[in-house]
Amino acid sequence: MGFSNPIILYKYNFNIKKIYFCSLENINEGKEMIDKQILNAYNRTRPFFRRRYLCYAPFKVIRFAYDGIIQVCCLNNLETIGTYPETPILEAWTGEKAKAIRTSFINNKFSEGCFECEKQVQGANFSNVKTKLYDFLPSSKKFPLLMEFMLTNNCNLNCIMCNGHFSSSIDESSNNRGASMPYDQNFVAQLEPFIPHLKSASFIGGEPFMINLYYEIWERMIKINPKIRINISTNGTILNERIKSIFRKGNFEISISIDSINKQTYERIRARADFDVMMSNLKYFLNYCNSNRRQLSVWVCPLTINRYELPEIFEYFNKLDIPVFLNNVYHPFNLAIRYMKKNELVDLKSFYLSNMFYAKSKTQKNNLTRFSGFINELDTWITHYDENQDFFPSDLTNVELKKELFKKIHSYYHLKKKLSIKESDVATKIIIEKFDRLMVIINDEKSYNKALHLMLRYDIDIIIEVLTSKSETHILNYLKRDLL
Ligand SMILES: C[S@@+](CC[C@H](N)C(=O)[O-])C[C@H]1O[C@@H](n2cnc3c(N)ncnc32)[C@H](O)[C@@H]1O
Ligand code: SF4
Ligand code: SF4
Repeated sequence: MGFSNPIILYKYNFNIKKIYFCSLENINEGKEMIDKQILNAYNRTRPFFRRRYLCYAPFKVIRFAYDGIIQVCCLNNLETIGTYPETPILEAWTGEKAKAIRTSFINNKFSEGCFECEKQVQGANFSNVKTKLYDFLPSSKKFPLLMEFMLTNNCNLNCIMCNGHFSSSIDESSNNRGASMPYDQNFVAQLEPFIPHLKSASFIGGEPFMINLYYEIWERMIKINPKIRINISTNGTILNERIKSIFRKGNFEISISIDSINKQTYERIRARADFDVMMSNLKYFLNYCNSNRRQLSVWVCPLTINRYELPEIFEYFNKLDIPVFLNNVYHPFNLAIRYMKKNELVDLKSFYLSNMFYAKSKTQKNNLTRFSGFINELDTWITHYDENQDFFPSDLTNVELKKELFKKIHSYYHLKKKLSIKESDVATKIIIEKFDRLMVIINDEKSYNKALHLMLRYDIDIIIEVLTSKSETHILNYLKRDLL
């Protein structure tokens, strides 16, 4: 479940001291899951000097997420490299956990928690796979070159595809994480030795412009290393003097989330936002970026309800020569294109194919590539539809459904992860028990039934990731929208 909006890293002038020649034959040795042909095709879409590892994030990136969790990127939630304040930042970066993830990539394997990227590579959606965002960073030896910050969930919106984990406006019960956020002044101080080496820093949320600690970090970065490209992922609804003033001092870039250019659809998706305000702010951001030669990009969540608008969105931003990126949306179930019926997927694919847009500039061509990548993925979902979708009659009892869930998780561990039957038993029981505990909290037979059906429909690696790596509050937040 990749909530992410990483930085755009196109503009580096590379000092290629060393070109890594790599035999494509050797890549990914010992990992049967990626077909060699697909792997070769994937690598052909990457810079020649960035084909040595399947992904460069663990070598160049450090990410600070909610509740003090330290990661190597926005998608790998299974393997974290520390927890602030218990783990000092330097220790997280140089510690055994980070080394283990890097070792996987040195051995040409995706690491355990990288299933989203792995899936997209397998689905030939090369242009939208997150690894690409890290190919463009220069080589690094000792220090991270990119820091990602997602420190708290303060947010003013209630977007229908988002959840309480990411937005305090959705998780009204927790109000916001700000009060219990572990990141403090000592955290800002610990960042200092890293700042001189940074090329980029990316700030997500919640809504970054509502997070006070970010302003302190920006001031600190601007003072120590004003060249850092500071990328803000914003919903675009907030603009004031404080923002304009910090913009004048630093090297800011904007990633703005716009899921529709039609007022009605936009406001349906981005609940509590005003389309006209956002568009007026977009003008300001665009003007700021154009006049300072900075990057502005647009991020779109392809959803069931805006699916027929995608070509129109690309065309609109193509006219302005703005890069458009697509978020991977696998949740909530009813809004995810991934889980639409086969005939709907087929219709959508042919709609896209008959609405391909014209591309002339480099930005437009890249947009077209990302759109085509999404069509490729759609195609994979159609091709593998029957094997991936488990349908269970609605009259199955909860006990019967739970047995099916047990089987699904068990075969994941036994067949995919190659654990013995006994080990798979243990691993499956742990997950089922956690699921049961959650359902005790929900305490409603109907919701339990619905949750079981959902668990049986969601991709298995998503179930495993969510149920093993997320806290109970997070999972409840996550399921809430599905169970409504
Ligand atoms: C969580 S938001 C935080 C930043 C800011 N509030 C915004 O909306 O841009 C980061 C990105 O996640 C995207 N997002 C929201 N819900 C999502 C979902 N269910 N799946 C994938 N991406 C999602 C948003 O559209 C946005 O581009
Ligand atoms: S492969 Fe994907 S999930 Fe894994 S570290 Fe790279 S970007 Fe993160
Ligand atoms: S603005 Fe961003 S964080 Fe807030 S609800 Fe929307 S997607 Fe989630």
